[in-house]
Amino acid sequence: MSSNAAPERDSPSVGSEEAPADLSVVTTGQEGTRAGRWRWRTPAALYRLISTPALRAVLGWDLPRWDVRWVPAEPGTCLEVGSGGGFYTGPLTRHLPSSATLLSLERHHGSLTDLRSRLADRPGPTLRQVCGDGTRLPLATGSVDVVFLGYCLEEMPDPYRAVAEAHRVLRPGGRLVVFLWRPAITRRRRDPVLARMHELFDVERERSGPQNIRLCLRRPDLDTVHASPVASAAGTAGRG
Ligand SMILES: C[S@@+](CC[C@H](N)C(=O)[O-])C[C@H]1O[C@@H](n2cnc3c(N)ncnc32)[C@H](O)[C@@H]1O
Repeated sequence: MSSNAAPERDSPSVGSEEAPADLSVVTTGQEGTRAGRWRWRTPAALYRLISTPALRAVLGWDLPRWDVRWVPAEPGTCLEVGSGGGFYTGPLTRHLPSSATLLSLERHHGSLTDLRSRLADRPGPTLRQVCGDGTRLPLATGSVDVVFLGYCLEEMPDPYRAVAEAHRVLRPGGRLVVFLWRPAITRRRRDPVLARMHELFDVERERSGPQNIRLCLRRPDLDTVHASPVASAAGTAGRG
């Protein structure tokens, strides 16, 4: 559906008529504004290195061509947040149908330009690159079909807000696919974020391994925040 990933009014012209051609890098003006407060986990120069399949295999992360099967291969707009060295961006261009649009969003401009040169001339979906912040997405509400957060929440000071933003830009029925790498996000940091995901979304698929947590979530058609069993029980008891 919505290939109308229209930007918010004060945002760059991603997907609009003024949008540059494929593989253009759109700068939102957000990069750097909060950079001083960000806690950098992976030096940007290492993103190419950590995108090496052999290294990732050693680290216990799976093969990208298998991993991307978590992402629904549907026409429409797929937003990849934190594309980094492109470990998943290339496989996504092979996985998604050519009628789809892949928006790869990354806060680090250098990674985007590097990726642009490597992915030029490839067939597949329309690829747009956006330099921006996953916690302040420059996209209209309900304009995206799939959001993919692949090992990027770990690096965000406010992953909770990134989940809220993913929920906002997803259309009802759209999917959120999340990969987390346990060593990089402590239980104390991830548990509230996972709890929020379970409140906002329906779980379609979930797999927790020793290193990775993977989720495919569906944004419900109606926005009812699910009550937790504890809260429900408390409410019932109170009424009784
Ligand atoms: C560990 S790397 C993973 C990159 C890629 N997804 C992969 O699996 O190889 C995390 C990426 O998230 C990006 N990132 C971190 N915080 C971000 C934010 N607030 N907005 C957008 N990208 C962010 C980093 O710049 C980095 O490229």
